[in-house]
Amino acid sequence: MEFTHYLHTKVVFGKGTISKVGDEVRKLGGSKVLVVTTGNLLEVTGYYEVITKSLNSAGVKYVIFNEVEENPSIETCEKGARISKDEGINAIVAFGGGSAMDAGKAISVLTSLGGRVSDFFFPKVVEGSTIPVIAIPTTCGTGAEVTRYAIITDLSTKRKNTMAGPAVLPKVAVIDPEVLKKIPKKLLAWTTLDALSHAVEAYTSKSATPISDGVAIIAVDYIIKYILKAYEGDEEAKGKLHIASTLGGMAINDAGTTILHAAGYYLTTHHNVQHGLANALLMPFILEYNLKFLDEGKLNILLRVTGSSTISDFINKLCKLMDAVGIPDSVSEIGFKEEELDAIASDVMGYKRNIGNNPSPVNEGIIKDFVRKAMVGRAKVYSS
Ligand SMILES: [Fe+2]
Repeated sequence: MEFTHYLHTKVVFGKGTISKVGDEVRKLGGSKVLVVTTGNLLEVTGYYEVITKSLNSAGVKYVIFNEVEENPSIETCEKGARISKDEGINAIVAFGGGSAMDAGKAISVLTSLGGRVSDFFFPKVVEGSTIPVIAIPTTCGTGAEVTRYAIITDLSTKRKNTMAGPAVLPKVAVIDPEVLKKIPKKLLAWTTLDALSHAVEAYTSKSATPISDGVAIIAVDYIIKYILKAYEGDEEAKGKLHIASTLGGMAINDAGTTILHAAGYYLTTHHNVQHGLANALLMPFILEYNLKFLDEGKLNILLRVTGSSTISDFINKLCKLMDAVGIPDSVSEIGFKEEELDAIASDVMGYKRNIGNNPSPVNEGIIKDFVRKAMVGRAKVYSS
């Protein structure tokens, strides 16, 4: 056995930890930060005061860059990097979901290493010394606070590209469950299913390691146990999901994602479907197939942890949870059309990293079969 595990990001978990962000910046030697976020997220979450007060009392100057859109583009990251260089920024505070954190990571890379975003896309491994990123997730899905990836959208090709490497990893992740108090129910469900996607994809990935398996299985356990309670507003359950999403991120940091994420990317870039929702719409069909290729011992652990007797039983449980948290039944409901089958299949085959990690054989025909099932929908496919 041979594997690499990255021990890099300091994880600070607990209620109220966001108020310590200024100290964390100081400990890393930062004196002027770019706060990378989305629109008025700082205000609507009630964290504008908390973060600026914390930075002020630590003597840290700041500039706010709040132009990150959902699925951050190359252009946005390059603009953020220009501001960062002009302002003499020496640390990044990324506050938001995966989009803000990924943009923050890309801005750190460009500020420190120069060049264009496209210079750093996979298969290049991003290495070197970068200004530190302190990541503060405001959703419970992406896990981007602990991953060595930044997913950046190329608007000209409608594809998501990955910056990957040790230099992309945040230095600190501040996981404060209180930030989820006001999260809209839908977003909570969608992002949690992204975290579940990370966990099950890492667990079934060809690149899985004993360490990624360990964290992935606890993430699955927490999500299956607590998603409904959290959806109904239980604050303790939301805290469990917040840590589960970090665990999911740790798992993919080692093991990567599979074709489930690759297929989800198409729904996002061509139908503007939120990332976690895109994965959820496809998950039962792809996962059911991939689980058939999983090592028997690992499959038994997954079934035991989720209280399932067989793969079908597990998939049925998953479908019931998705129904209960309002996930549409089929990709047809989000506007996907039969005539797109060739396009999605060839798009997925282009995500070589994901294809390489997938535990089962993949070709365009197999991908089309999954998507056809996703068009029919969970209710009909799993009715018997
Ligand atoms: Fe994801």
